[in-house]
Amino acid sequence: MGGLFKSLTIGKHTIKYPIFQGGMGVGISWDELAGNVSKEGCLGIISAVGTGYYKNMSFVDKILSSKPFEAINFYSKIALNEIFKNARKICGDNPLGANILHAINDYGRVVRDACEAGANVIVTGAGLPTNMPEFTKNFPEVALVPIVSSAKALRVICKRWSERYKRVPDAVVVEGPLSGGHQGFKYEDCFKPEYQLESILPQVVAESTQWGSMPIIAAGGIWDRNDIDTMLTLGASGVQMGTRFLGTKECDAKAYQQILPHITKDDIELVKSPVGYPARALKIGVMQRLKEGNAPKVQCISNCVSPCQRGKEAKKVGYCIADSLGKGHLGNLEEGLYFSGANGYRVNEILSVKALVDELTKR
Ligand SMILES: Cc1cc2nc3c(=O)[nH]c(=O)nc-3n(C[C@H](O)[C@H](O)[C@H](O)COP(=O)(O)O)c2cc1C
Repeated sequence: MGGLFKSLTIGKHTIKYPIFQGGMGVGISWDELAGNVSKEGCLGIISAVGTGYYKNMSFVDKILSSKPFEAINFYSKIALNEIFKNARKICGDNPLGANILHAINDYGRVVRDACEAGANVIVTGAGLPTNMPEFTKNFPEVALVPIVSSAKALRVICKRWSERYKRVPDAVVVEGPLSGGHQGFKYEDCFKPEYQLESILPQVVAESTQWGSMPIIAAGGIWDRNDIDTMLTLGASGVQMGTRFLGTKECDAKAYQQILPHITKDDIELVKSPVGYPARALKIGVMQRLKEGNAPKVQCISNCVSPCQRGKEAKKVGYCIADSLGKGHLGNLEEGLYFSGANGYRVNEILSVKALVDELTKR
């Protein structure tokens, strides 16, 4: 290990380096970040979440406190097209992905929108995407990549897809509990050795061999080239990284450049989310306000995710996920929600995407 990387083929698309930049919403991995990551030979993944916030909400209908109104505007097709168009100006024809959470309202419509916008790869987590191929029938060249946290989840997906659609995933991301954002585990399981990436990765690799071979992409807590090499030794064909890309100049949520160099390990915690999974976030913005008992009033405007039931779960946990992530993207440090992986405190310096990719790939 430690030599030159092999390229990675996902369906009909080949990526020079076996590194995915994880999709990060709201407005964290959009045209600038994903476009530059793909330009540098990794897979840039555009987040399809909250595209209504793109360019200060200039593509959508807004009412009530200037927020995108309903799922049709929160997941704006016009804005998603613009994001892809602008990313393509940076990366040309290199493979480019879209990240679409299964838990969102309008999932099928947004998958179709992403295909029409020119996504080559679609990555879906936050739920079991047993119906994902349903929405890509007219786009056979688009590669489909579910995110799982267990071998069992991969088994369920492969069984359903092979029965219903006569296909299996083109690759699978297996995400362990050090990742940023939503976790595929119960809160207490996030700390148990048997759920760590090093334990679940070999199980997912073993399961995948039952279904023909597909590349397995390891995610969660991967920091440097040594970590990447460890994952490849454990049977992964590539890795997905989020937090390292938060600390880049091209990250589309510019507030992270201000925040990350100053946080410590203790500033990162697992919090409750209206999506129904624990999420790893920074103890600033809305999380700080919640502790002080003065978080903004919850009012469902964007109707973003089905498990929240139009604000019911948001009221229980005390904050709206769409509004808080939207504010995070807009740089509202008082009320924004800022996700981070467990390694967020290790970002001491903001690098260009090119410098980061060079660091990870050159030996
Ligand atoms: C700020 C932030 C936002 C994220 N948003 C999403 C998202 O919208 N959809 C998703 O599937 N994963 C999301 N993730 C997970 C990343 O795509 C990636 O898998 C994960 O961060 C990998 O772990 P790492 O951060 O330790 O590298 C997010 C992660 C971060 C740090």
